[in-house]
Amino acid sequence: MAKYYVGLSTTFHDPALAVVDEQGKVLFAEAVERFYQVKRAYGCAADPRGLVRQVLREHCDPQGEFIIAKSWGRGFSRFMDFQFLLGLTNHEKLARRGAEMTRFLVDQHQLFFALWLQHSTLRLGGGHLADVLIKDFGNRRQRFVHLPHHDVHAAAACFTSPFQEAACVVVDGQGESGSMSYYAYADGRLRPVAQMKGPESLGILYSMCTDVAGFSSEAGEEGKLMGLAPYGEVDPAMLDEFRELGRIEGLKFKYPSTTQLKRWRKRLQGRGRKPGVPAIDMASFAATTQAFYAESMTTLLTNFHALGLSENLVLGGGCGLNSSYNGQLLGATPFKQLHVPCAPGDDGNALGAALLACYQDNPDLRPACEVMSPYLGASISNVSMEHLGEFGRFQKIRHLPGTVHREAAALLAAGKLLGWVQGRAEFGPRALGNRSILADPRPAEMKGKINARVKFREEFRPFAPSVLDEYGSEYFEDYQVSPYMERTLRFKDSAKEKVAAIVHVNMTGRLQSVRREWNERYYDLISAFHDLTGVPMLLNTSFNIMGKPIINSLEDALGVFYTTGLDTMVVGDYLIEK
Ligand SMILES: [Fe+2]
Repeated sequence: MAKYYVGLSTTFHDPALAVVDEQGKVLFAEAVERFYQVKRAYGCAADPRGLVRQVLREHCDPQGEFIIAKSWGRGFSRFMDFQFLLGLTNHEKLARRGAEMTRFLVDQHQLFFALWLQHSTLRLGGGHLADVLIKDFGNRRQRFVHLPHHDVHAAAACFTSPFQEAACVVVDGQGESGSMSYYAYADGRLRPVAQMKGPESLGILYSMCTDVAGFSSEAGEEGKLMGLAPYGEVDPAMLDEFRELGRIEGLKFKYPSTTQLKRWRKRLQGRGRKPGVPAIDMASFAATTQAFYAESMTTLLTNFHALGLSENLVLGGGCGLNSSYNGQLLGATPFKQLHVPCAPGDDGNALGAALLACYQDNPDLRPACEVMSPYLGASISNVSMEHLGEFGRFQKIRHLPGTVHREAAALLAAGKLLGWVQGRAEFGPRALGNRSILADPRPAEMKGKINARVKFREEFRPFAPSVLDEYGSEYFEDYQVSPYMERTLRFKDSAKEKVAAIVHVNMTGRLQSVRREWNERYYDLISAFHDLTGVPMLLNTSFNIMGKPIINSLEDALGVFYTTGLDTMVVGDYLIEK
């Protein structure tokens, strides 16, 4: 009988679902925000019925055995029970006293109540997946496992890495008891080395600074702070203030005392961006925050390397999304190789939970040790494609099997803005050539054109390049392979004139390396563009508009196509022009 490990990411933000078979092969992984088309899907279940039915139908035998793995351990359930009772009994008083976590939970009591119910339901062996299996298929072969949050992050990062052995660090906002955990990884086994306990958190500090700069950590806008940083100068006095607050002791990031933290936070809030003030005025604050994050990480990782576990580093947890630091990491620390997974944040924990449950159950299993494909999400429905052909009645829709990439490359070279939808959606926050908006990276004005006509987002934010791997070192200094856009590298000076639209103000780019064996159609498209222009890269941004998740269905794609200045769109072998 087939056996499936279903991972559920059950934090209050970024719920996600993943399925792994008993050989450790990933069958499906997707953040629920794509299914609902609501950014970050706050408070939503990780196993919505519609998605569960779709996954069971397309990727599983519904009569198989299901091991359902949750991305938080029992400690978190107890914490939630405690907070829930506190919230119920002492609502007003606690909110007035400002007990940090409690106030947050009380303020969002409705969300929290829904979450507490979700966690309790899963604890008791329920949930939507369990119910669908019983009601639709009469299948009660289900088992539940509850896995510690940081172990799950570490599994998501290590089991998908190309390394046989590595030192692994998880850095996020908060796990069950702290924000950093260290592991030794070898042959499919994770061994805990150290865990930081307490409220100190580089992740939460970065989120707090995101809010102070006038962005929203709730909307996941830490990347905006990171993108703004290169426009500013590090303020030495402000950096010293950061250093007074957060000190490194061995593998720990420490605050001096709760009182000092409160005082510091007050001072920080005094620096907050006032209404009407442009974001660019916060650039030095952003630069200083990023500099403090980078120096703290460098010290922690150098201390970790000194334990002599490995020359390979695997980085998991939400802080793994700081591509700017990821790109500097190998130059700044003694580690020789770095792997960051395609979804280091809490959405990736769906995959981590499924993989960890699978490897714990099957001790002889060994991971493939290769770059894992990120194309693990939903496909565009065939029925929608048929309906498009039958009812579309576009002025210009052409079916071009085998040649669509060449037609698309010619349109891109002529300056057209192209929506590009192929195969299965990417797992993780980055569009990697299957749900992408693409453009010619050569003209400097292309950046402004996309911002004004398609993305409707802040002018200071950079666009990323997808580059054919074999040409990477022609364009980047100290080129590193970056399959998931997980690191930002420095362009060579000569690149500025060639690909002006994708060179950020500090001469960097958050690149995606493309190899044919990783994404044949995307590779062929960039190659065709290279043949026409001599430039082996494209500007690649996610297929969405600001504030919305990346498109999930053909209908979502058409919605963006017709309500933005996109000129043309390719879906599979169909090319649609306005
Ligand atoms: Fe996390």
